[in-house]
This record gives sequence, C-alpha cells and structure tokens, in this order.
Amino acid sequence: MLASLSMEGKTVVVTGGGTGLGRAMSLALAKAGANIVVAARRAVLIEETAVAVRALGRRALAVPTDVTESAQVARMAARAREEFGRIDVLINNAGIVRDQRAKPIWEITDDEWRVGIDVNLSSAFYCAREVAREMVDRGSGKIINVASGLGFRGGRDNYMYGAAKGGIINLTRVLATSLSRYGVIVTCIVPGFVTTRDPDPNPTRAPRDPFIPVGRTGVATEIGPLAVYLASDASSYTNGDFFILDGGGLAGGYAPTGYAPEVALEI
Ligand SMILES: NC(=O)c1ccc[n+]([C@@H]2O[C@H](COP(=O)([O-])OP(=O)(O)OC[C@H]3O[C@@H](n4cnc5c(N)ncnc54)[C@H](OP(=O)(O)O)[C@@H]3O)[C@@H](O)[C@H]2O)c1
Repeated sequence: MLASLSMEGKTVVVTGGGTGLGRAMSLALAKAGANIVVAARRAVLIEETAVAVRALGRRALAVPTDVTESAQVARMAARAREEFGRIDVLINNAGIVRDQRAKPIWEITDDEWRVGIDVNLSSAFYCAREVAREMVDRGSGKIINVASGLGFRGGRDNYMYGAAKGGIINLTRVLATSLSRYGVIVTCIVPGFVTTRDPDPNPTRAPRDPFIPVGRTGVATEIGPLAVYLASDASSYTNGDFFILDGGGLAGGYAPTGYAPEVALEI
C-alpha cells in the first residue's frame, strides 16, 4: 500500500512554490520521490525551495513565472519538459492571500478586480490548459487545485478572493468531468487557516484559534501528506473531489460563531 504513495521519478510543477503551502508541498513531494518545478515571480525564493529539494536528493528547477501571463506559463512548461521530459502533476497553488484587504464593493477598482481574478483563478486555467494536452495524449496526469474555505462560503467585503476561489471550486469540477475520461485526475485542496509566516505579520488581528474546532490554526507542513496522497497513485479513485484541511472550521461553521476571516461579524 505504501508503494502507491511513492512519487519516484515523477515531475511535479508547483506554482507559488517559493513560500508557504507551495514550499511545504514541494518538500513533501520531494521526500516522496518527486522532481519539482517551482514557479513563481520571486526568483530568490523559488531557488531556495529548489535548493532544499536538491538537498533531499531530488532534481529541481526554479522557473521565474508570473502565472497571470499565459505566455510565461507556456515558457515555464516548456522549460519543465526540456529538463524532465514530462509533467506528471500540476499543483495550482499560486494566489494572493494577504495583500487584498477586505473593503466595500464601491471602493474596488476595475484593476483590483482583474488582478484578484487573474491571480487566484485565471492562473489556474492557464496552467491547466498548458499541461492538459500532454496529459491527455499520455493518458495520465494529475491536476491539484488549491482553493480556500472562502470558496465555499462568503466573507464580508471579500470580493475577488471569494469569487475566484469559488471559481477554483467549480473549475475543479469542470476539469474533472472533462479530462478524467482521458486518464487525467483533478482534485482540490481547501485549506482553512494555516500559519505560514512566523512571526505573524499582522499580530493585531483577532486570534483565530477559538473559532476552529481543534483549537488551533494549521501549520504548513500539515498540507504535505495530503498533497502526496493526491499526487500519487494512492488516490486513484478520487476525481473532482475536495479535501478540506481546516481543523473542522467549515464543519463547525466559522460564520455562525460570529467570526469571519478578516472582519468580525456584528450579529
Ligand atoms: N495559508 C492559508 O491559511 C490559506 C488558506 C486558504 C487558502 N490558501 C491558499 O493556499 C495557496 C498558498 O497560500 P500561502 O498561504 O502559502 O500564501 P503565500 O505564502 O503568500 O503563497 C502564495 C504564493 O503565490 C505566488 N504568487 C502570487 N502571485 C503570483 C503570480 N502572479 N505568479 C506566480 N506566482 C504568484 C507567490 O510567489 P511570488 O510572489 O514570488 O510570485 C507565493 O509564493 C493560495 O492559493 C491561497 O489562496 C491558503
């Protein structure tokens, strides 16, 4: 059974792999045997992940990429194929998490809307489109999208992120129903509150732990085993499915507790 979790000899592209959850997934997949292509804009950070992957005895390629630009996505995939010959798994993890502050709809500019949707949704479409043909022709491949609990529920004044992550949820369903007949499996990880920066860059924010049934936020390494499971043959009968990693947050319903991610509810 454990052999089915091996990623030996497989190539995984991780967008946003220079930091946080993307870096954690890259390292977990490398530990399981995969070679990793790390793609994001900040060259220094993706190279750091690549170095850490190599230290685990795997091959790694860092490709500076803005995933909102489909031409750059195409170049990144071409580099990956040049280096490794194929792309077995794509993890659509890149996203803007903290830079988009909640604000009233009338204060959101067209540009802010476009950027939010481009980074958090269109990027996943571009990357999936880029790898789909190769995977379909081969008859195998996995695409793992990373959404958010905010794709399943509303968040006050949280427009772009919520709309885009809801889009990621349904993009997963459309990709899964369209591509699985060709052997391409598509799934989605739905993180809740997972700490990726130490110390917290926003220490004045209300602590979230009391609103999470397990009593704490997650830590980045906790996403690793799930990524390995979904990327490997062990998950052979999952498709179009959602894997929530949130300590019971959605199960308990963050909103009815009187708490929304960035803005306390006044009920
Ligand atoms: N941590 C959580 O609590 C949590 C909860 C729910 C969902 N998520 C989701 O998990 C994913 C990872 O988040 P994280 O917490 O690990 O945050 P993070 O550390 O800020 O990671 C986001 C990554 O996306 C990359 N990125 C942003 N814009 C990009 C662009 N235009 N092109 C290429 N890469 C881009 C960033 O790298 P560059 O800036 O170098 O490009 C960064 O490495 C995101 O999709 C997020 O929505 C996280």
